[in-house]
Amino acid sequence: MAVRPVLRLGDPRLRLRSAELEAADFGSTRLMALVDDLRDTMAACNGAGLAAPQIDVPLRVVLYGIDSNPRYPDAPPIPETLLVNPVITPIGVEFEMGWEGCLSVPGLRGQVRRWQHIRIAWRTVDGEPQEQILSGFHARVVQHECDHLDGVLFPDRLSDPSAFGFIPELQAAGLIPAVSG
Ligand code: NI
Repeated sequence: MAVRPVLRLGDPRLRLRSAELEAADFGSTRLMALVDDLRDTMAACNGAGLAAPQIDVPLRVVLYGIDSNPRYPDAPPIPETLLVNPVITPIGVEFEMGWEGCLSVPGLRGQVRRWQHIRIAWRTVDGEPQEQILSGFHARVVQHECDHLDGVLFPDRLSDPSAFGFIPELQAAGLIPAVSG
């Protein structure tokens, strides 16, 4: 268990496509250690989610969850969830705009368009298949984190280049809530 350094925008390792876990990986000590590191690092950074490539492990593993996070004051609580080999399928054609941040893009926020409703299929650490339908902010968090597995960061998806900036400036402009950190 360890808090690992989080790679930041500009590091080419964030731009790789991460590999699927294979049958022998499920339930392995290597996977359990990765999950512990993701949890410790996410907690230390007060993040809403963290993908394995952000801590320099190029595997398709994502951890997310929000327990009244001051970084996202308007966000509903989301139970801690671990996704292995997640696959997103959009439901419908509706999009939603929202502000996003990222532990790999510290100090900045940008407005991003995401699918409003998605179906997410994944494996647990033991390889059990799971499926869930998600909407709104919860769906946004999952789309953001799964993008990391394909080397995509939120600034790649800005709705408008001007809807992107440093947190204090966006707060002063009234674009994001003042309590957001
Ligand atoms: Ni991120």
